[in-house]
Amino acid sequence: MTESFISELQPKRGKFITFEGGEGGGKSTNIQFAKDYLAEQGIDLLLTREPGGTPLAEEIRGLLLANREESVDEMTELLLVFAARAQHLNQVILPALEKGQWVLCDRFTDATYAYQGAGRGLSIHGIQTLESLVQRELRPDLTLLFDLDVNIGAERARGRGALDRFENQEMAFFERVRDMYLKRSVSESYYRIIDAGRSLPEVQESVKACLQTCLFDKNRQ
Ligand code: TMP
Repeated sequence: MTESFISELQPKRGKFITFEGGEGGGKSTNIQFAKDYLAEQGIDLLLTREPGGTPLAEEIRGLLLANREESVDEMTELLLVFAARAQHLNQVILPALEKGQWVLCDRFTDATYAYQGAGRGLSIHGIQTLESLVQRELRPDLTLLFDLDVNIGAERARGRGALDRFENQEMAFFERVRDMYLKRSVSESYYRIIDAGRSLPEVQESVKACLQTCLFDKNRQ
């Protein structure tokens, strides 16, 4: 068999699409919408989240989000985030992408740059080092950033009930998170910004338009 024939038999690697943003930006609603839309287009996909996505990584998520009396050292937080990510990546994300499934992930490493880098003030260089160690070459094919005024986002998050350890941060923390996301949306070519302050149908039109570029790429492969 020729090499090109063999490569045609192998499934094409799936697309890796991540959903990012501060609190209360409507990520969860829109990721469901994206999943339904892509499924209607015949895409075989997997919906997952970070921190989490495997039983062990979900346990780490519980450790990260719980409000506790002991203050959590920033470096402990960063390493827990990447510990959960290594498990999730190797057990779930990479095998799915290799089978040709598309993976929709509610947050990924851009959240680490925003929350641990800008929010907590940890070294960006340190995060880059862990990113290379854990992910090697893997980066998202597309990141939809749900961007929203932090005051509106906090209001929406408060309306959902009890706040977790991150949601309990002060407004300045969320301003830094938002600024980092916006900064990365300029430096990283896989970002698309969605103005999450509009009505749901308008937001969903934008989500659909972004996903269509991925579908178009797939059909051209
Ligand atoms: P969620 O509320 O969107 O499910 O995300 C859980 C929280 O975890 C959210 O407040 C952001 C935080 N987080 C980080 O701080 N760093 C990360 O790398 C990830 C993936 C999430």
